[in-house]
Amino acid sequence: MTRVFSGIQPTGEPHIGNYFGAMRNYVRLGQQYGSDAIYCIVDLHAPTNPAAYDPATLARLTFEMALANMAVGLDPEQVIFFVQSQVREHTELSWLLTVNTPLGELERMTQFKDKAGKLESIPAGLLMYPVLMAADILLYKADTVPVGEDQVQHIELTREIARRFNHAYGPTFPEPRAVLEQAALRVPGVDGHAKMSKSKGESSTIGLLEPLGSIWNKVRPAPTDPARVRRSDPGNPDICLIGDYHKLFSDAQTLLEITDGCRTAGIGCIDCKKRLMPGIERELTPIQARAAELRERPETVLAGLAYGAERARAIAAPVMDEVRTRMGFLRAGARP
Ligand code: TRP
Repeated sequence: MTRVFSGIQPTGEPHIGNYFGAMRNYVRLGQQYGSDAIYCIVDLHAPTNPAAYDPATLARLTFEMALANMAVGLDPEQVIFFVQSQVREHTELSWLLTVNTPLGELERMTQFKDKAGKLESIPAGLLMYPVLMAADILLYKADTVPVGEDQVQHIELTREIARRFNHAYGPTFPEPRAVLEQAALRVPGVDGHAKMSKSKGESSTIGLLEPLGSIWNKVRPAPTDPARVRRSDPGNPDICLIGDYHKLFSDAQTLLEITDGCRTAGIGCIDCKKRLMPGIERELTPIQARAAELRERPETVLAGLAYGAERARAIAAPVMDEVRTRMGFLRAGARP
């Protein structure tokens, strides 16, 4: 049996890096595994990042993330898609896993060290972040976790947490494995950053729901192969971010023509950028149209999430019962 679980940060509007790296993959896995593909918008993780978290915007950013994923094709009738804070069991399991997790293992997490290093006061929640993540996964006894490379260490820790629990209380959890998003699909930032990332600011990202005119305003001035100083200088599309975008968006014929045109200085960079836009339009227009439809009917998005939470609870509640029993808690109404 395969059960897929992944967590999606509520960062609001996703960009095309999220789309090619993760979202498209979630849809594909959903088509393959149906209700054994479980996706959760991890709003309980969000407040561990005081800089990005704001109680006035969290709900909207969570909603936007749900809407965008549904617009891409994530079907809440097919997969289980819900909001973490709406399924209380995540918090409960997280605590129960915390009590047995060595502090040293948490302090060793590179993401913790990176984030903590930038803060004057370190919230304990930042240290516990990976335990909540382990709870997310283990609550559904998921065995397959599609994530980016930066999360692999957290999945390793999840395996150790599962192993430790099984050893202490009896076999309960499978040890999940990380399935890496394809490295080939790492999308560079439109400003030349190696990786498109919201943390680098709006100038680095192309929003999945961004109007095409606005996208063109970012693509037009984007840096290209620095060897092409003059129009007559040949270039290398394999070291050019516009070349990378063509590989994601353009059809085979266009890709062939721009590759050849760049290497022979047959076309200029502006022409090459113009030829990128039809592919972007072809890919994003249907997604943006579905997003606009969903925006007209927000109750559809909310109902999909509520249905997801209900189905998530149906899996999580018996697992929590099992965990409480194994750990030996007094059960309501049951004499010890
Ligand atoms: N930490 C993950 C990220 O930053 C998000 C996440 C939370 C997650 N819980 C998870 C990913 C469980 C996979 C499984 O992307």
